[in-house]
Amino acid sequence: MADLSTTIAGVKLPNLLFNASGVCCQTKEDLQKMVDSESGSLITKSATFERREGNPSPRYVPLSNGSINSMGLPNEGYAYYLDYAKNYDYQSNKPLFVSLSGLSLEDNVKMIEAFKAANLPCVLEINYSCPNVPGKPQLGYDFEGMDHSLSVLAPLIEGPFGIKLPPYFDIAHFDIAASIFNKYDNLAFVTCVNSVGNGLAIDIDTEQVMIKPKDGFGGLGGFMILNTALANVNAFYRRLKNKQVIGVGGVTSGKEAFLHVLAGASAVQIGTTLREEGPGVFARIKKELSDIMIAKGYKSLDDFRGKVKTL
Ligand code: DHB
Repeated sequence: MADLSTTIAGVKLPNLLFNASGVCCQTKEDLQKMVDSESGSLITKSATFERREGNPSPRYVPLSNGSINSMGLPNEGYAYYLDYAKNYDYQSNKPLFVSLSGLSLEDNVKMIEAFKAANLPCVLEINYSCPNVPGKPQLGYDFEGMDHSLSVLAPLIEGPFGIKLPPYFDIAHFDIAASIFNKYDNLAFVTCVNSVGNGLAIDIDTEQVMIKPKDGFGGLGGFMILNTALANVNAFYRRLKNKQVIGVGGVTSGKEAFLHVLAGASAVQIGTTLREEGPGVFARIKKELSDIMIAKGYKSLDDFRGKVKTL
């Protein structure tokens, strides 16, 4: 095998692959499946202050080239994930990331204060891109609001942390977002991308939308968003100073994982393909990526990270 190890926010991962938050990570049983898999890390479901049931089902449906979902942030409440993080065996296990998605700045502050008080070696990923809570626009598309949130949360967290971002589609937006992120020294990584928000899937036979919440509108994931994900990874890789990018979106095999690293990713998360295939996906994609690297003569991720050639 080639060397697939990486370091994120100063924490060493035995390999670059882990779950995208939302998949296989809501309960302790789900998280144990991630621990038992060949992933290099694991991240918990985005937590809100209180437990949430989420939206009515069907709320996730696989499509021919990806998936659509409007889960509505079902989660056990932050105290559950704090308890998990407190009891996690950091010595003998892979690193743990915890995703927080407060419904207000105050909720994020309260959750972060609780994690800080526990003084744990887990890494926080603050989610600025949940598209599926009816009536709540996501902060990732509100640059002033996101800057204000970061100005409060970054000094509070103190240590290195990351943020989960929605996809951007305009070069001016890449520039504005990056100039905000570059103001915060302890913002160590950005995770690009969350689902492409508010797609619509329709069944031709029944002439019905395919998921129940939001009249069928939901976040798109899987192979259909690969090129949007690669663009966002590379756009932030080029613009961010002393920060890392975690790539997510469209990874179905070692080939797409390789492309994410070539675009600049330091780690790669897997969402839809993990949901469809189960945790065995990590062993498969590790092997496929390693085979590609060996065929190309690359020994480690550093040999080709961010080295995509332009014409
Ligand atoms: C949900 C979806 C997201 O894309 C996200 O970032 C957080 C939560 C959800 O619908 O549960």
